[in-house]
Amino acid sequence: MIEDTVLIVDDEEIILESLTQYLSERGFNVVGVESLSAARKVISERNVDIILLDIKLPDGIGLELLNEVAKMEEKPIVIVMTAYGTVDTAVSAMKKGVYDFIQKPFRTKDIELIIKLALDTKKLDKELKVLVKTQAEKFGITSIIGQSKKIEEIFKIIKKVASSGANSVLILGESGTGKELIARALHYESKRAIWPFVAINCSAIPSNLLESELYGHEKGAFTDAKEKKIGLFEKAHKGTLLLDEIGDMSYDLQTKLLRTLEERKIRRIGGTTDISIDIQLIAATNQDLGKLVEEGKFRKDLYYRLKVIEINVPPLRERKEDILPLAKYFMQQYNKKLGKHFKGIERSAEEALLNYSYPGNVRELKNIIEKILILEDDDYIKLDYLPQEVKQEDFKSPDNERAFDNVYEIGLENYIKMKEMQFIKDALKKCNGNKSEAAKLLKIDRSTLRYKIKLYGIE
Ligand SMILES: Nc1ncnc2c1ncn2[C@@H]1O[C@H](COP(=O)(O)OP(=O)(O)OP(=O)(O)O)[C@@H](O)[C@H]1O
Ligand SMILES: [Mg+2]
Repeated sequence: MIEDTVLIVDDEEIILESLTQYLSERGFNVVGVESLSAARKVISERNVDIILLDIKLPDGIGLELLNEVAKMEEKPIVIVMTAYGTVDTAVSAMKKGVYDFIQKPFRTKDIELIIKLALDTKKLDKELKVLVKTQAEKFGITSIIGQSKKIEEIFKIIKKVASSGANSVLILGESGTGKELIARALHYESKRAIWPFVAINCSAIPSNLLESELYGHEKGAFTDAKEKKIGLFEKAHKGTLLLDEIGDMSYDLQTKLLRTLEERKIRRIGGTTDISIDIQLIAATNQDLGKLVEEGKFRKDLYYRLKVIEINVPPLRERKEDILPLAKYFMQQYNKKLGKHFKGIERSAEEALLNYSYPGNVRELKNIIEKILILEDDDYIKLDYLPQEVKQEDFKSPDNERAFDNVYEIGLENYIKMKEMQFIKDALKKCNGNKSEAAKLLKIDRSTLRYKIKLYGIE
C-alpha cells in the first residue's frame, strides 16, 4: 500500500515529536518541520497529502502557506492547529481552503480521526473526478461524430451553453438527427455533470400520467396513487431534465410547465408544500413548434420561454460531410461489437451512401451499417451490400451544391451527373413535364431523355 504523506509544521518541539511518532506508528509517512520556509521547501519538492499547520511560526503566519497550496495541482488537505483559534480566523481560513481546524491542546487520537476523514473525502473527490471524466468522454461532445461546418457550429453552441449554464434549451431537428445525443452532451459538458440526467418522452405517455411522472404525487392523491411517488423534476434536481417530443405535451400540462419554469418550484400532486428545484430543462422535438403555436396547439409564451437558446440540428442530407465519418465510426463500433473485421467502404458504396437522402437521418445510417455488419463477412462494405433504396436513390434526390460544405468531396464524375440531373429537371419543369418539348429544349432525342429520367429516377 502507498502511504499517505503528512507534513507537520509546528515550532513546538513536543507537539512535533509526539505527533510524528504517533502518526508514523499508524502507517503514515511523516515529515516534520519547524518553520514556514522549511514547509515551502517540502511542498515544492515532494508530494504531500496532508498538512498539519500551526498558525504562529517563527518566520510568519502558517496561513501564508495557503497561497502556495492554492497554486498546486494536487492540493494537499490542510488542517490548522492553533491555540489562538477564534471563530473569525477559523472562518476566513476555511474560505481559503482549510479543510478543518483543531484547537490546541488536542488529543493525538482526535487528529488521527480528522486525518482519516479528510483522506476519505479526498479519495471520494478524486473518484468522482475520474467518473465525471469518463462520463464526459462517453457522453460529451466527443461522442458526437461529424466534421461538417453545421455540426461544428453545434459543437460551439454546446460548449458555450455548457460553460455558461442555461436554464432552458430547445433542440429542433428531424427524427434521428441526434437531438438526444446533443442533450446529453449539453449535460455532461456542464457543471451539472455530477448530477442526474433524466429523459422522458412526452409522446409515449398519456397526459395525466405524464403529469404525475413529472411532478410526482403524494399517497392517496388520486385513486391509483397507492404510494408516494417522486417525480422526475425532483429526480433531476441539480441536473438536467430532457423533455423529448415536447410538441406532444397537452395544453394544460404546458401551462403548468411554464409556471414551473418561472417559479422554479414544484408541488407534488396532492401535496401541500412547494419544493424548490434547480434544473436545466432541455426540450426537444421533430415537429415545427412555430406552426403548432400558429395552430393554437402549443403555448406561445412557453415556446418563447424555451427557445431562448435554440439548437437546430440539420438533417443528414444537408451535411453530407458527416456521412462517411459517421458510417466509418459505426462500422468500427459494430466491428467491435460483432467481432467483424471490416476495414473500409468501397468507392462505389461510398458514392451511394453520399447520395442517399436518409429520411431517418443518422439513425437510419447507423441501422444500415449495423445490418451489413451482421449479415456480411468481408473486408470492405460493397455497393451490393447496401439496401435497395440506397442503391436506387442514386441521384434521385435534388442534391445541390448548397448541401455540401465542400462539393469536391463527391468528385467530378458525380458532380457532372448531379448537374445533368438538375438540368433535365429544370427543362421538364419549364415544359410542364412534356417530355417531347423538354427533349427539344435539351437538344437530345426523346429516347435518351426517357433513359436519363429513368436512370436518375426523376418524377
Ligand atoms: N453525430 C452523431 N454521432 C454519433 N452518433 C449519432 C450522431 N447523431 C445521431 N447518432 C446516433 O443516432 C441515433 C439517433 O440519435 P438520437 O436518438 O439522438 O436522435 P433524435 O434526434 O433524438 O431522434 P428522435 O427524434 O427519433 O428521438 C442514436 O443511436 C445516436 O447515438
Ligand atoms: Mg430522441
